[in-house]
Amino acid sequence: MRGDSATCRICAGRVDPWCDFGRQPVSQAFRSPGETADEYFYRLTIGVCAVCTMVQHVERVPPAMMFHADYPFRSGSSAAMARHFEQTAEQLVADERLTRRDALAVEIGCNDGTMLAAFRRAGVRHLGIDPSRAAADIARDAGSPVRVEFFSEATASAVRTTEGPADVVFSANTISHIADVCDVFRGVATLLAPNGVFVFEDRYIGDIVRQTSFDQIYDEHCFLFGVRSVAELAARCGLELVDAVPIPVHGGSIRYTVARPGTRTASPQVARLAEDEREQGLHDPERLRAFEQRVTATRDELVGLLTKLRAQGARVVGYGATAKSATVTNFCGIGTDLVEFVSDSTPEKQGLLTPGMHLPVRPPSAFCDPYPDYALLFAWNHAEEILAKERAFSEQGGRWILYVPKVHIV
Ligand code: SAH
Ligand code: TMP
Ligand code: ZN
Repeated sequence: MRGDSATCRICAGRVDPWCDFGRQPVSQAFRSPGETADEYFYRLTIGVCAVCTMVQHVERVPPAMMFHADYPFRSGSSAAMARHFEQTAEQLVADERLTRRDALAVEIGCNDGTMLAAFRRAGVRHLGIDPSRAAADIARDAGSPVRVEFFSEATASAVRTTEGPADVVFSANTISHIADVCDVFRGVATLLAPNGVFVFEDRYIGDIVRQTSFDQIYDEHCFLFGVRSVAELAARCGLELVDAVPIPVHGGSIRYTVARPGTRTASPQVARLAEDEREQGLHDPERLRAFEQRVTATRDELVGLLTKLRAQGARVVGYGATAKSATVTNFCGIGTDLVEFVSDSTPEKQGLLTPGMHLPVRPPSAFCDPYPDYALLFAWNHAEEILAKERAFSEQGGRWILYVPKVHIV
């Protein structure tokens, strides 16, 4: 499952290939039926840098192929995530005293403005930056200013000139999506006020390895951050990682706080988590091999289960046309012979076909008309919200299939 080594995007060290998921499409490039020719595929292989420990993609998908005017993901599609952002904004407003005059909060990757809305309600001057126009327009229509572009050091200089320095730069599920991440960190260093903070959340490599959540590996996640690797990244860009807090969102993430060196007292948690990573062997290619074996076992078990259920005449439907599901369906070869369609609440995805395997995406009204026997939960990171919402499905005998941390039925 391995190929040639590559060069680290952070430190130019050697990146040893670790896991190969083969040919994959752009994870959120949904297609109209009848327009499935010329689909873009790339080889999804990740590796670990032998020097700075950053886990990263070996081949990168051009950013504009993933994030563009019609990017279909909407942050507001999960009520639980909307609540999470609201609470996060409230905490930042209080901790960083953002209600004082002229304070500025900037969000990188604001999408539909779910987080910006909380700053707006709190009366905090704010600005979003996101290249996905249709999503950004939702934020703008709600009254939040957004620059529709990719954040970079050049953007940071322009924003600093027009708006002044930022007291908080926030970002969720975006920094790990940007291959030129050193340019982003330099941009943040340009934009931050002397005592400002850069707070960002991203999926945690420790949780991905521990739970074998291999579906977190897809085109957009060109880095899988860890505490040690983010500390190295910050230091190389003239900043310091001063806090790292594990949070449960998206199946296990970390909220990182980065500041100018010496301006904040570093939490002992940073060194503690970095040491835990070393003990868990997260930097050790030999020990990481066991993950690859678990991924293959999950694939074989899931395909075996779906094949058996279909042979028994059971109906299986997917739930949540997530970016993650692109890796699962394409790596496992799950087509309409195994899963009839995928139910998704996002209007922008409905009526289209999933990338690569071309499963039809249908609205939630199709899910209950009539209910299938089994629902394969691709949006397992939202399990609590979805299982509560779909209680009627379980009550009339429907079963959920999950594959993280192992294949199981509930
Ligand atoms: N923060 C939101 C959205 C995450 S999806 C949430 O957590 O729900 C990732 C978002 O990052 C997309 O809206 C995408 O358009 C945006 N993005 C990708 N590259 C970016 C860049 N270089 N600068 C700013 N935003 C970017
Ligand atoms: P995410 O895992 O990247 O957040 O994507 C979740 C997908 O699942 C998104 O396309 C919206 C969809 N979804 C539903 O269809 N119903 C739901 O109740 C929730 C929370 C998400
Ligand atoms: Zn490196």
